[in-house]
Amino acid sequence: IAAAAAADIARITGVDHHDIALTLGSGWGKAAELLGEVTATIPATEITGFSKPALEGHVGTLRSIATPRGKHVLVIGARTHYYEGHGVRRVVHSVRTAAATGATTMVLTNGAGGIKRGWRPGQPVLIADHINLTGDSPLEGATFVDLTDLYSMRLRDLARTIDPSLDEGVYCQFRGPQYETPAEVRMAGTIGGHIVGMSTALEAIAARQAGMEILGFSLITNMAAGIQTTPLSHQEVIDAGREAEPVITSLLARVIEAL
Ligand code: 6GU
Repeated sequence: IAAAAAADIARITGVDHHDIALTLGSGWGKAAELLGEVTATIPATEITGFSKPALEGHVGTLRSIATPRGKHVLVIGARTHYYEGHGVRRVVHSVRTAAATGATTMVLTNGAGGIKRGWRPGQPVLIADHINLTGDSPLEGATFVDLTDLYSMRLRDLARTIDPSLDEGVYCQFRGPQYETPAEVRMAGTIGGHIVGMSTALEAIAARQAGMEILGFSLITNMAAGIQTTPLSHQEVIDAGREAEPVITSLLARVIEAL
C-alpha cells in the first residue's frame, strides 16, 4: 500500500524520486514555501491510503518541492494522529510512503508541551530520544528493530550548526487526545521526558524500520499541565504556532538546505 501511494505521487508530481521527507506539525506549516519551488501540491485524498485530516491547522496536502541544490523534498501536511482511532498502520502510512518514494531522511515536526524548566512557549527544540507511551507499535510480529540513535546525533549536530542555541529533550508520546493530567506530566518528567505530545514516536519507529535517518523538532507551544498554572487549550497551541512560525520555519528551511 505504501508502494501504491509512492506510485501515485510519482505519477501526479512527475518526480520519481524524493530525497527527504518532512512532516509538518502545528506551527511548522509555512516551512515548505521557503525550501524551494513547489513542483506539485496534491490533496491527500488523491493518494492511496491517505485520509482527510481530522483537525483544523493541519493542511491535508502533500507537496513535492525542488530545492535550489537540486534535492526533492516530499512535504507531508496530512498527518494522521493515533488518537483518531484508525490504527497505527494509518498513522505511519505517510512515513512508509515517503520511504517508498526513495527518501532516506525523515524530518518529523510537531507542536508539543514543555516540561523542562526554563523553556518558553514559542521555542523550537530538537528531539533527542523518545518514550512511546501509546502501548502500541507500527511493527508487526517478531520485528526486532534497534532504536539506538533513533533521532540521529549527526543530524542534531548539523541542526546546531545552523542554530547553536537549540536545546534538546526526550519526547513522550501519549495517546491523547486529552492533554495530560499534572500527575501524568510529573510521571513523564520522572521517567526522563522533557516534551509531551501526541505524535512522532510511532512515526519515528516506522521510519527507522524503513532504514531512514531521522531528525525531530518540537515547537514548545505551551508548558505542560501543572508546569504552567493556566489551563491548556487547543487555541493556545494554534496561536503559539502562528506566532513562532516565521522564526521556526526559516530555521527548518535552513537545516533542510544543509542536509
Ligand atoms: Cl501539554 N500535551 C500533549 N500531549 N500534546 C500537546 C501539548 C501537551 N501541548 C501541545 N500539544
